[in-house]
Amino acid sequence: MTKQSIHGGWNRRMTFILAAAGSAVGLGNLWKFPYITGEYGGGAFVLVYLFSIALVGVPLFIAESLIGRQTREAPIRALASLAQASGRGRGWASIGWLGAVNGLLILSFYSVIAGWSLDYLLGMAKGAFSGASAEQVEATFDGLLGSVPRLVLWHSLFMMAVVWTIARGVQKGIGDAIQLMMPALFILLLVLLVYGAIEGDLPAALGFMFSVDFSKLSLDAWVVALGHSFYTLSLGMAVIMAYGAYMPAGVSLVRTAGIVALTDTLVALLAGLAIFALVFGNGLDASAGPGLMFVSLPMAFAQMPFGSLFGAAFFLLVAFAALSSAISLVEPIVAFWVEKTGIARTKATVILCAFAWALGMATVLSFNHWSSDTLFHAWFGKTAFDSFDFLSTNLLLPLGGVLTALFAGWFVLPQLLKDQYREGGTLTGYPLWLFALRVISPAGVSLVLLTGLGVNLWVSALVAAVVVLGAGVLSSNLTLKTREA
Ligand code: TRP
Repeated sequence: MTKQSIHGGWNRRMTFILAAAGSAVGLGNLWKFPYITGEYGGGAFVLVYLFSIALVGVPLFIAESLIGRQTREAPIRALASLAQASGRGRGWASIGWLGAVNGLLILSFYSVIAGWSLDYLLGMAKGAFSGASAEQVEATFDGLLGSVPRLVLWHSLFMMAVVWTIARGVQKGIGDAIQLMMPALFILLLVLLVYGAIEGDLPAALGFMFSVDFSKLSLDAWVVALGHSFYTLSLGMAVIMAYGAYMPAGVSLVRTAGIVALTDTLVALLAGLAIFALVFGNGLDASAGPGLMFVSLPMAFAQMPFGSLFGAAFFLLVAFAALSSAISLVEPIVAFWVEKTGIARTKATVILCAFAWALGMATVLSFNHWSSDTLFHAWFGKTAFDSFDFLSTNLLLPLGGVLTALFAGWFVLPQLLKDQYREGGTLTGYPLWLFALRVISPAGVSLVLLTGLGVNLWVSALVAAVVVLGAGVLSSNLTLKTREA
């Protein structure tokens, strides 16, 4: 008999796929991917991002869901017990702690941005954008960013929705809604793309996103593309591990990872194409930053037949996509806390979300009173929001990801890995996967991160080699010791 998680299992394979895809597809795809692609120059950035999804993201996705399903526990305990079962120290559980902290950090600003889509949902439903000129649409966005009460209101409402959903429990809270929302989102993106092709400039969008010019790619862009590949697949902070614990036995982790990654990437590319077609068709600036989606799309909705209706539907779906992602940022921590202390689920959720909510105030203020001359500017040269985003996405997620890859690749008992990998499928690609975990991820991520932080290329390469070799040596030493003992 397979163990079941105490938080309830997901009986059908589809539910796991939907929940994982619900976590993966979110603001990262619809809002963030287009705007960072715009900021970092298009084609070459997209290519690096796609490579890192395939070489680092998918293998890590398999590893995380594997660890979860193997143990059926929330991440921190899952890591500790799997480490013990493999004859290793419990120190690996720190990956879970790192993830917990990072999850709350991400949730703090995620909720603020998700709040924008609620504001737009209301605006669209009221017909506020219908027939609006480009200037009016831009002024509306600036008006929202300038209003602290409005930002706080929507941030608070969104956070309450998160609390409510998690408090209801895994299956009831997460499972049902996503089933409807995901296909609806897909269809609406296609509608937008068709509209963009007719009224906007689709060839320009295609050229921008897919013609590769590496001379435009800064070191920063590598770090951001890599970080985003973790962010968009919800990797690097043990979320997929937590969901893996609810995954039924007898289902192939490999195939599932492929399906989720494909869906996620497709949504991002569709959103990017639709948005850039409209951006270039309306003479907007591709590098406009975080406001890109919130300015370009309303302009299209303003002119489109039934624009207010489509617009309202779109921002409703954005809000739902954000909700199904946001819950995954706290669910693992809630699950751990409940397992560990028996605290009531609702209470744990409220406390954690209240903390993230308060931290979110720094992001709210980043767009108005704190937009310049703060401590964050002095230390990091950016607003609080940009600093949080950079720290969590581009540093902590890759760090968590590398540690997870090293743990699974070098330290977990190979037989456990093999059995889980084979379950519901075949061993095809297993050596390649192991190589990706053991070598490509740790070395690649270390290299990109260190050079991106300004470390000399040769020094970075040396560190990358030491990380991989060190893990290899350390793991074989310990294996010997446990065998002798
Ligand atoms: N993947 C989500 C998005 O693209 C964001 C997200 C949800 C996330 N849960 C996560 C990112 C866990 C990292 C880790 O919007």
